[in-house]
Amino acid sequence: MKDKKYNKGFVILTAAIVAFGGLLFGFDTGVISGALLLIKQDPALAINGMPELPERIQEWIVSITVLGAAIGAMSSGRISDKLGRKKIIIITAFIFAAGSIGLALANSVALLIIWRFIVGIAIGVASYTVPLYISEVSPSHARGALVSINQLAITVGIFASYLVDLGFAEVAEGWRWMFIVGLVPSLILGIGMFFLPETPRWLLTNNEEDNARKVVNKVGEPNPEKIIDDIKVSLKKEGKQLSTRKALSAKWVRPALIIGIGVMLFQQFVGINTIIYYSPTIFEMAGFGAESGSPVYDAILPSLPIGAINVIFTIVAIFLVDKWGRKPLLYLGLIGMVLALVALGIGFTFHESISSSTLRYIAFISMIIYIPFFAISLGPIAWLLISEVYPTKIRGVGMSIATMVNWLANFVVANTFLSLGKITTGQMPAPTGDDMITNPGGAFFIYAVIGILGLIFVYSYIPETKGHTLEEIEQHFQAGKHPKEL
Ligand code: BGC
Repeated sequence: MKDKKYNKGFVILTAAIVAFGGLLFGFDTGVISGALLLIKQDPALAINGMPELPERIQEWIVSITVLGAAIGAMSSGRISDKLGRKKIIIITAFIFAAGSIGLALANSVALLIIWRFIVGIAIGVASYTVPLYISEVSPSHARGALVSINQLAITVGIFASYLVDLGFAEVAEGWRWMFIVGLVPSLILGIGMFFLPETPRWLLTNNEEDNARKVVNKVGEPNPEKIIDDIKVSLKKEGKQLSTRKALSAKWVRPALIIGIGVMLFQQFVGINTIIYYSPTIFEMAGFGAESGSPVYDAILPSLPIGAINVIFTIVAIFLVDKWGRKPLLYLGLIGMVLALVALGIGFTFHESISSSTLRYIAFISMIIYIPFFAISLGPIAWLLISEVYPTKIRGVGMSIATMVNWLANFVVANTFLSLGKITTGQMPAPTGDDMITNPGGAFFIYAVIGILGLIFVYSYIPETKGHTLEEIEQHFQAGKHPKEL
């Protein structure tokens, strides 16, 4: 296991191509923030001659994608176990490509909503099949870094979407261009996948031992025959008991299900997407002015440092995750996020006792601190852990369940952020003058409490998977041992 020699070039290139699926996940979730600003005012899409689309409709255009992702994830797990990892990713790339074209050409709100839903399905499928694929081809000692390339691609996708939004912000019907850009990564993914092999673990599940051996050799595993033997032993044990339904209810599979669902709930309920989706709104609440004369620019600009920091610290995570391990990064990340959330909570809740410039300062610094702590921990590691803990035969289904939970939780957070603030800390005067706006302080406190619960969950239930092969992890669970003991 200490032997670090493997075919790095092949494995990294493979992970990089597959990670275009992650890039599309990030791009298509991020692009709407800027596109919406133009869509809502486009006369070609106007409803009953109104100058702006009603807020309810705008909310649907944004959130239907998240629902589509939950449905895509939920309904495709078995397909990825049956058809194979490679084929399902190719199909997904095709849906992404169709979605980019469909969105760019949409000439009514109804069509926009339908295409956003279809793209959502692709995002849902890509969000777990990419880490699944990378995990199943990677050598164990580099698996953490390689699977985290997916999260890097997500963050690059989000950042790229902000830049694209900025680039087309002043162009007539710029939103169409914003969407069509997604076609490029879709094609790279779809075409690139044709040249990549199916994963050895899926091949062995389907009795294609020779092909599996070829892939393991290509990866340059130091001890290929041991890998093949271990996979076969695991599959044999699984084979006795595993139809999908039986497997999901088997007692030894339960901890894996709890880990997968738990880690996804915490990833979302610490409130990451209030920052990713609402950072312009939060900055506005904290009193950042709109001075440049271009409201679209003003709304997109503050997101840029957030997006860039997210990318940079995901790279840091890639270097640390196989050295420090998963759990130390989770502890560090959660502690940092909780502190930043408490600072945000205090700043907004006690806004009356501090000056408006102090509030601006607190909001900006806290958000800038929160992001790197997420990026080194729950961002990459949640997706990594779900690619590690399930037995091979039901890895697709297991990951799809955890991923569905992720997207549903995302939906709940994005849809309740403002109401949570209103219920707990009420309203405060808008920085610009007479209006009253929601005070988000209480929502941040709630996310902080969830972060503390997350720390307890990591300590008491999460296994340290660093350096173990997928088969060793599976055998640990099969032996009925507590996850923490790995
Ligand atoms: C999460 C997304 C989030 C992104 C931010 C991903 O791991 O699943 O919900 O928007 O990280 O970087």
